[in-house]
Amino acid sequence: MVAIHGKFLYRGEIIEAGIEIENGVIKEIKKTIEGEKIDGLILPASIDVHVHFRDFEESDKETIESGSLSALYGGNCLVVDQPNTNPFVGDFDEYERRMKIAEKKSYVDYSLNLGLTTKNSERIHEIIKKIEEKYRIPAVGEVFLQHSNSELEIPYHTLGEVRKKISKLITVHAEDPSLIQDSRPPEAEIEAVKKCLELGDFHFCHISTYDSAIMISDSNSTFEVTPHHLLFNTEDLDRLGEFSKVNPPLRSKVESEMLFNVLQLADILVSDHAPHTLEDKKNGAPGFPGVETTYPVMVNLMRKGLVGIRTLTSLIATNPARIFGFEKYGEIEVGNYANFAVFNLKAVSKVKAERLHTKAEWTPFENFEAVFPERVYLKGELALLNGEVLIEPGIRKKKEVDEIEKIEESEKGKISKK
Ligand code: DOR
Ligand code: ZN
Repeated sequence: MVAIHGKFLYRGEIIEAGIEIENGVIKEIKKTIEGEKIDGLILPASIDVHVHFRDFEESDKETIESGSLSALYGGNCLVVDQPNTNPFVGDFDEYERRMKIAEKKSYVDYSLNLGLTTKNSERIHEIIKKIEEKYRIPAVGEVFLQHSNSELEIPYHTLGEVRKKISKLITVHAEDPSLIQDSRPPEAEIEAVKKCLELGDFHFCHISTYDSAIMISDSNSTFEVTPHHLLFNTEDLDRLGEFSKVNPPLRSKVESEMLFNVLQLADILVSDHAPHTLEDKKNGAPGFPGVETTYPVMVNLMRKGLVGIRTLTSLIATNPARIFGFEKYGEIEVGNYANFAVFNLKAVSKVKAERLHTKAEWTPFENFEAVFPERVYLKGELALLNGEVLIEPGIRKKKEVDEIEKIEESEKGKISKK
């Protein structure tokens, strides 16, 4: 049993109290609990439900190991990886192969969406069933209505049929194929959202327009926003130069400001961490790395009063846990895992690509102000302290580890009694 004591967000208020942790889970929260005194503000560690950790044949861009290390430095306790890898994760074998890599190599908890393509859509129900005998699939996605690789595309009618057939969350890249053309205009997103909402409830990936946000928030569907669509716009294209390409693309200044203004309507904040090699970026590969900068950049905005603490923690921890069904994750609460990120709001630094841990070697947030977490606790274990990683990679199956420890302790007890 361990206990820490400090300032943290609890049931919507910042309180100063003690947190008792047993087996990686918060056992009790009380003012009278004493424990190690923690400086700074203790917030829930974040859950990034949209990352592309590549690996497989694209290990030069990122691996589960490098991506998850970057995630840890960014204050994340759990990531959801996307299936558009090479090879694609559309069946049991690839799913299992990836989960096995994560078991050994991931620094943070790892989960993986199952891909849906025209090819596997008929069998998707059986594939889900088979995988779920062993692993828990958080969602089917990210579904592409349009993709340069036509095998990965899903026409609306197929999406509609799958929606009726399975109950699982389906995450959609909403860009209408007939309107997308080269420039991928806002209308392509708005139209696709409209058509999808007619088909049923979905989770929409990285929404970039005000109109889509309003439509979705009036429905039973949910949506993500990214820091880059909130904070960047077409005026940043020059600054970003040959690195500026991302899907959906950066929008006009007024569009990004309007989206920021309705941030409270969004459900989840994600990075859409999409690393590429410098060479691939120069050749026009779309995507921004971000799993390490999302929380620190947003905490800095919170520090400046531009984002509320409740909005931020809902978007980054509570809502992703609830919507994707991750039990015991989310807010700081009795019964939940002790997953915390501790921020010293006076320790403002500038983002520098050379200090990040992704293989991407660049960041669109270069020189942005940020507050990086000084400590990250994963299931009660201090995993990161002042820039130093204190854990080995590999998913910590808390219960098993603790059981081994308990057995060892009782063995010791027996020996000492003898
Ligand atoms: O910019 C993007 N990059 N958007 C996506 O939807 C996919 C991602 C990637 O995988 O590179
Ligand atoms: Zn993505």
